[in-house]
Amino acid sequence: MWRYPRILAHRGGGTLAPENTYAALRRGMEQGFRAIEFDIMLARDGVPVVLHDAVLGRTVNGSGHVHDYDAAELAAMDAGGWFAQGFLGEPVPLFVEFAQFCKAHGVWMNMEIKPAPGFERATGETVARIAAALFAGELEEGGEAIGRVPLLSSFSHAALEAAMAAAPRVPRACLMERLAPDWERIARSVEAVAIHACHRYLTREQARAVKEAGFGLFCYTVNDPARARELLDWGVDAFCTDRIDLIRPDFR
Ligand code: G3P
Ligand code: MG
Repeated sequence: MWRYPRILAHRGGGTLAPENTYAALRRGMEQGFRAIEFDIMLARDGVPVVLHDAVLGRTVNGSGHVHDYDAAELAAMDAGGWFAQGFLGEPVPLFVEFAQFCKAHGVWMNMEIKPAPGFERATGETVARIAAALFAGELEEGGEAIGRVPLLSSFSHAALEAAMAAAPRVPRACLMERLAPDWERIARSVEAVAIHACHRYLTREQARAVKEAGFGLFCYTVNDPARARELLDWGVDAFCTDRIDLIRPDFR
């Protein structure tokens, strides 16, 4: 069962703002989004930051790996100038603060655990512990409140296993570019509530099988409204989009 929003802004604000930043989040919110996907990895000091790439240089004005720097050093780096001059100085967000901001503004979160190679378990455990602490009240309350708890997703099975061990009540989803032949066994082994699949490779038959097995089905990253309608027609529960200007939260 899918109890979360249907349309999410990918990396906070899609392609309308520098990804995984507060500027992206604000842009998404301006477009009416109250649900986002973003990526999390660990800095050298084990503090999680909101970032997609393990290697700096594409979106962050720096060099080397994310784990060469403490979180405070990353937070002082520019993550906006690559996108446009007007975003120069936009920081790399600290995950805890970013999640608190989202929660305070009623923005639902799909937290993608994006470990740098070698940091799978540590990243999964850290993100899950923080999510559980931030949403302890909702987890305790249960019922409708569970719909406000973030959904943790990852391509890394080890990260999901560690998340399950650290905070079993925070829901998990398996990210799979293409559905593995044994996707159901993999998903059940981490008690996942949903499959997050790349829409390019998903077939109508696979969508039906996932839904019939009782899982939520989420697609990334859907930027064409016609394809979005087709996926919803197949029974896909939700998707994230980079084109938050074309596909709004009330899209049908
Ligand atoms: O979580 C969905 C999607 O974001 C996965 O791919 O590379 O954009 O993080 P990526
Ligand atoms: Mg992602």
